[in-house]
Amino acid sequence: MNRRRRRAVTAAVLAAVVLAGCAPAVQNGATVSIAVVPAPASLQPAEGAPFRLESASVTGEADAVATLSALVAARSGIDLAADGEGPAIDLRIERGGAAESYRLTADEASVVVTGADAAGLFYGVQSLGQLVQPSGDGWIIPAVEIDDAPRFAYRGVMLDVARHFHSVDTVKGYIDRAAGLKLNALHLHLSDDQGWRIHLASRPELTELASSTAVGGDEGGFYTKDDYREIVEHAASRHMIVVPEIDMPGHTHAVGLAYPELVEEPVITDHIRETARDYGGELPVKGTPYDGMAVGFSSLKIHDEATYDFVADVFGELAGMTPGPYLHLGGDEALGTPEEDFALFVSRASTIIADLGKTPIAWHEAGSAADLADSTIGQYWGYVQPTDGMDEKARGFVRNGAQLILSPADAIYLDMKYPTGPELGLTWANGPTSVQRAYDWEPSDVVEGIEESDILGVEAPMWAETIRTAADIDTMAFPRIAAAAEAAWSPATGDSDLRTWESFRTRVGTLGPLWTSLGIGFHPSGEIPWVTE
Ligand code: ACM
Repeated sequence: MNRRRRRAVTAAVLAAVVLAGCAPAVQNGATVSIAVVPAPASLQPAEGAPFRLESASVTGEADAVATLSALVAARSGIDLAADGEGPAIDLRIERGGAAESYRLTADEASVVVTGADAAGLFYGVQSLGQLVQPSGDGWIIPAVEIDDAPRFAYRGVMLDVARHFHSVDTVKGYIDRAAGLKLNALHLHLSDDQGWRIHLASRPELTELASSTAVGGDEGGFYTKDDYREIVEHAASRHMIVVPEIDMPGHTHAVGLAYPELVEEPVITDHIRETARDYGGELPVKGTPYDGMAVGFSSLKIHDEATYDFVADVFGELAGMTPGPYLHLGGDEALGTPEEDFALFVSRASTIIADLGKTPIAWHEAGSAADLADSTIGQYWGYVQPTDGMDEKARGFVRNGAQLILSPADAIYLDMKYPTGPELGLTWANGPTSVQRAYDWEPSDVVEGIEESDILGVEAPMWAETIRTAADIDTMAFPRIAAAAEAAWSPATGDSDLRTWESFRTRVGTLGPLWTSLGIGFHPSGEIPWVTE
């Protein structure tokens, strides 16, 4: 297309540019929208015509060039490297800004993304990928100015690979998907009553004797040390850390398959019997693999020094395998452990981790313990409106001088059923959980009496009792994972016009074609006005 004709087309396109967060408009056959998820700190449609991608060239940091080229090729079929004679896209690092921040400017002549660091540049490229859109007979990036930086340092997803095992490829795929929404932590729930999923040279019996089973009699599995390294390295290439969790002192039935001397007899309550009745499976029997869905019956022996040798071996080896700063000790639903014993255990386990030079993380129950290692981060999994004193337990970590990760279960537990849609998922966390419920909460309003600076971040867990495949993960996570990403990255609700459900649902709707082009099998929720091309 010659320059004059392109001007005429782009002028028409520009007239159709709609303000951020509003529905796409159609004018003169051109549909243009400026929609980024999670919502940037600042986004302004710019003066001038859009940038046309046909024959564009791209220069700059090699990793960013490769990431953008892959996104543009998937979305539009355009091979940026092959064309390369037209207007330029420049992707570079300019130090000095806040960690993970970036600036993106696009106009008719050029697109420039500058990241304050490699992560910031990566996130700028992800925003740019979301802006690529068809227009008339070609592909454009609207004229825009974005200045963006994360609200919270920790932005996570959790994958439960214990209730059902998920392969290295599935985990790598989830890393790619989460990183595309500017999430930067993958928490792996590596052990539970149903299986142990990580090989440790110091305790090889764990994977030899306790890894082959999963919920419902399904096949188990485990990661070798090479597998784990591959996951950690892939995550790092997407600017994510891996947070390994070994859940203790409850959720440890599988440990007893390898080391019966370390675990107590299962505590069978009415709740355990009801779960077996409602969801199937046998009652737990010490020394026999457990493939049901009940929680809260198992416990490590708290007053036996061999237990702490085990804890030291496991976390010592994991510390050496994990470059990220955190090791997660679990601590949830230890209903088979007397309260005082629980406090003693989490205090000793958190101290073992802190002495390894790592920062412990524990689910919020551990916040009630008096002598937790000072640095221990709490992970709150109660509801958006706290019940049963869960917020008080969470405040314990803050009183101790540490921060909280927020994972409100009735909003961002991604394995809760949708109101309509796939049969997958559970409902125990006040489900079914709509996309709107996943979105409509504000991190600073959950635990009363804490400051913004007391919040390390937000994490969306995916428990896997019913989640067997990569396709199951996609359909349960997408689009609700985008709501969690927005809570983690974007300005607080009230601080940005974009932080409303109406804006979010419209912006997410524009991502449908990109997600499809990337092979993400999202749930086409009727709550979202999906764009189709
Ligand atoms: C949890 O949902 N038990 C952390």
